[in-house]
Amino acid sequence: MSDRTPSGIEGLDELMGGGFPTGMNIIISGIPGSGKTTFGIEFLYKGATEYDEPGIFVTLEESPESIMRNMMKIGMNLQNLISKRKILLVDANPIRGETMITDTGKPMGFTEFKAFGLSEIIGQKVREIGAKRIAIDPLTALLMHYKDDFDRRLEIARLLIGISNLNCTTLLATEYHLCELTRQFSVEQSIADGVIFLDMLRTSGGIIRGIQIQKIRGVKHDFDFHLYHITDKGIVIFPKEKIYTPIREGL
Ligand SMILES: Nc1ncnc2c1ncn2[C@@H]1O[C@H](COP(=O)(O)OP(=O)(O)O)[C@@H](O)[C@H]1O
Ligand SMILES: [Mg+2]
Repeated sequence: MSDRTPSGIEGLDELMGGGFPTGMNIIISGIPGSGKTTFGIEFLYKGATEYDEPGIFVTLEESPESIMRNMMKIGMNLQNLISKRKILLVDANPIRGETMITDTGKPMGFTEFKAFGLSEIIGQKVREIGAKRIAIDPLTALLMHYKDDFDRRLEIARLLIGISNLNCTTLLATEYHLCELTRQFSVEQSIADGVIFLDMLRTSGGIIRGIQIQKIRGVKHDFDFHLYHITDKGIVIFPKEKIYTPIREGL
């Protein structure tokens, strides 16, 4: 087993010396519209099409139909890979999803929706197709009913421990909003092996998209902000284009 898993995102791997450390869990944190879902899907799509690595996409918010429709517009035909069982799209939305069935055979209620149950379901799916990659989108949806930091920490730790036994490289999308841009780091960012920010930055030339690797345990990585675009062919990062901006005052 290689110790690095290529991200498949153009321009990203050279910022971290050749891909994600295999088996690690990486938070993809960004504002709405920053490309978190696209990032997670592209990681799995490229894994399936270029590296022969099956993947599980767990959606906690956007419907599978909406994801498939939107990704098709940027050149990723998920239906094809789903029918070949190279990708499984798991609808784990606690309100809409059918995956959350309890021992009694009844659908799981919102308050019973727990991270550990989710990691069990992901484990089943991983074994079903021999997955090497997982993307969970967004983790925020799972954590919103834990107001207390201690409870959040416990739930995330349970999920990450459950997932780490699966030996997959895992991306976990989380949302942050403008009110949090004082950069108080959330619990999940402390616990995860890695954190990548997808941001919008105000420059003299207008608003641009910027990506920053904040941490990846055990890796000497770049930590500047770099320009990225969302294009008709997916996400493109420009590793040679650093972005320098004054301290942010909001967009
Ligand atoms: N074909 C495209 N060309 C350029 N930008 C696009 C294209 N398709 C989508 N986008 C951008 O991607 C954004 C949505 O990305 P998404 O991955 O859903 O973000 P998030 O999950 O962070 O909310 C849209 O708001 C739009 O700005
Ligand atoms: Mg999204």
